[in-house]
Amino acid sequence: MVRREGAAERRCRFWAPLLVPLQAGYAAIMSSPSVDIIRWGRERARTWPWRGDGNVAFLAPVPEAPVLSAAFLRRCLTILGERGFARVVTSALSPLEQTGFLAAGFEVAEELHLLSLDLDALPPCPDVGVTRVAAAERPQILAIDRAAFSPFWQLDEHGLNEALGATPRTRFRAVIDGHSAVGRRVLIGYAINGRSGARGFVQRLAVAPEARRHGLGRGLLLDGLHWMRRRGVRRAVVNTQVGNDAALALYYDAGFHREPSGLSVMEAGLKVIRPTGGP
Ligand SMILES: CC(C)(COP(=O)(O)OP(=O)(O)OC[C@H]1O[C@@H](n2cnc3c(N)ncnc32)[C@H](O)[C@@H]1OP(=O)(O)O)[C@@H](O)C(=O)NCCC(=O)NCCS
Repeated sequence: MVRREGAAERRCRFWAPLLVPLQAGYAAIMSSPSVDIIRWGRERARTWPWRGDGNVAFLAPVPEAPVLSAAFLRRCLTILGERGFARVVTSALSPLEQTGFLAAGFEVAEELHLLSLDLDALPPCPDVGVTRVAAAERPQILAIDRAAFSPFWQLDEHGLNEALGATPRTRFRAVIDGHSAVGRRVLIGYAINGRSGARGFVQRLAVAPEARRHGLGRGLLLDGLHWMRRRGVRRAVVNTQVGNDAALALYYDAGFHREPSGLSVMEAGLKVIRPTGGP
């Protein structure tokens, strides 16, 4: 039977979550040699070791592919167990996407609010000195990320690449706090925004703890939203974990509204299947 995509399915293809291992788009698939695709019939999922941890696998639906069935996901669990993983976590999944995962034995690990904003009436963009991020500054970006998020949500190099490749167009910007003794720029906050056609995605936003409540988060957020609007985006979405009150306050302040249903990161334990034979 040919599965027809409903509106809800189409909507979530680029929900590359702000805080979770990202459900990235084709760019990341093409550019990350460590990403593996599990296929069965028309169904496909992407997987790689989560944050470099050989015990935990990350599993994400492939954009533009059919919603994953429980049968396919059980097969994924077997394959990942055979590869020696003890646990698997997913990208942020919409309620529709969660159905197959729940039936295959996954449980909700983290719940996320989904917020959206029509870009017609944006607040003005404050000038906080937003600047492009140079490749050599990526370690600083990862350090800000580690300081800003609890371990479960922190990005490693691979996760950063996923965030940057999640949408066809990306804006990667930072704010600086002067220069070091050797003349190096010192970054104190960053944002990754993406767009795909008329849809915009706030992918990642973090300000170093010591620099908060000075308007930098708002400046980075609005810089991204104004960029989206200049490029024809009509509506932006963002997600944030339930309980992240600072982020929620920031998004409400910018005009975002909470969608009735959120997203969930799911997880499952795996039966590790060790190779037989040998000494
Ligand atoms: C969320 C975050 C980016 C905000 O950055 P920030 O630079 O401190 O935010 P701003 O100073 O620009 O705040 C803008 C508005 O957001 C709201 N806000 C921000 N932090 C808040 C807090 N801790 N409590 C209540 N409201 C807050 C306020 O309305 C604030 O306006 P005001 O200062 O005029 O009252 C920052 O707290 C952070 O990096 N958190 C950890 C990472 C994270 O959660 N990122 C977002 C993921 S969804």
